[in-house]
Amino acid sequence: MAVIEGARRWSELFAGRTRTDVGAGILEILALAGNTELIPFAGGFPDPQTFPGARAAAFLDELVVSGDLGPFQYSPTRGLPGPLDALAARLEATQGRRPADEETLITSGGIEALELVAKSFLDAGDAVVVEGPTYLGGIMAFRSFEADVTAVRLDEDGLDVDRLRSTLVAGLRPKLLYTIPDHQNPAGVSLSTERRHALVELARKYGFLLVEDVAYRELGFDGEALPSLWSLAPDAVVQVGTTSKTFFPGLRLGWAVGPAEVVAQLTVAKQNTDQCAGALGQMLWELYARRGAMDEQLVHSRALYRRRCERMLAAFERTMPESVAWTSPHGGFFSWVTLPDGLDAAGLARSAATAGVAVVPGTPFFPDGRGGSNLRLSFSRVEDELIDEGVERLAALVAEHELGRTP
Ligand SMILES: Cc1ncc(COP(=O)(O)O)c(C=O)c1O
Repeated sequence: MAVIEGARRWSELFAGRTRTDVGAGILEILALAGNTELIPFAGGFPDPQTFPGARAAAFLDELVVSGDLGPFQYSPTRGLPGPLDALAARLEATQGRRPADEETLITSGGIEALELVAKSFLDAGDAVVVEGPTYLGGIMAFRSFEADVTAVRLDEDGLDVDRLRSTLVAGLRPKLLYTIPDHQNPAGVSLSTERRHALVELARKYGFLLVEDVAYRELGFDGEALPSLWSLAPDAVVQVGTTSKTFFPGLRLGWAVGPAEVVAQLTVAKQNTDQCAGALGQMLWELYARRGAMDEQLVHSRALYRRRCERMLAAFERTMPESVAWTSPHGGFFSWVTLPDGLDAAGLARSAATAGVAVVPGTPFFPDGRGGSNLRLSFSRVEDELIDEGVERLAALVAEHELGRTP
């Protein structure tokens, strides 16, 4: 009896901020994504074929045999010198700008970098602008510090910067603007070069920090990338990155690169989260990057994801009713599907799960309840043959649901 009463009370003791709806969406997605019975269009998971098993084993062996105890020890909060230098070299090679040492921080994944930015900048009620739709981990990070999150719509060319400008002219004064300019999660679109320049100008004019998430930047199908916002405006951008999609997410390793003053503040914030990212993972990634293994793997990963994406788009074309639209990504993991007006995506996702197909409805990707007729489909982890079958089952359900609502 005493146990039950105690258990009932714990939720009353939870902090007020936990009562804002920050976490339910991602838990549902992970539950769907983890269900191995379903054709997995749900989670943003890399395909296990891209995991560097044998290479990682050889590098780990090398680290242990070297006798250096560094991989086993605590490390400086900002990161170990070798991995920080390897990160700077990689950014120079892929983005054309080498950050100064004090502009770099190694984090425990991209999500921690977002959390550190939120923790460092946001007081309750502060305004943050995100893309609508956006990565729900971003919405959660900002909301968990009680920010007021506003979404500005995006289209095939990424964030609608004209609309953002109007919102700013109308008086909104965000502290942060969060954007995923390359092969966006969940929409699969990229920000045009022209808009990149315009966005940077707005950040400078209105004095907000641009938080640029480059999770899928290196996964353009043709290996090309537009200029990063950070390379265009290192004074106004903090770039958040992850090794999860290009190495493996079990490592939990990422970075934040930005103005030295900002990075110093993020480093202070990190001292009371995990104090430092794991040294073993940092050193493993350093070897992976320095030995050229990452570039070799990227060639295979891009080809794999391109093939999967093309197959999914061809299946959409073949099977979906005319009333359905979708984005055509040039990289990354996702396509964003728009159902005919009034067709309930959450209901469709439930029917799809019953029919053996996992997809995510659009609402959790907006801070304001929009997305009711959208679905996110991830092609990254679905075996080629299952892509056709999964899309066919989904298309049949869309047709059924459409019929069901006609009088
Ligand atoms: C846009 C975006 N940012 C960040 C992350 C999280 O990365 P990490 O695994 O490094 O925390 C993801 C993962 O899905 C993502 O899609």
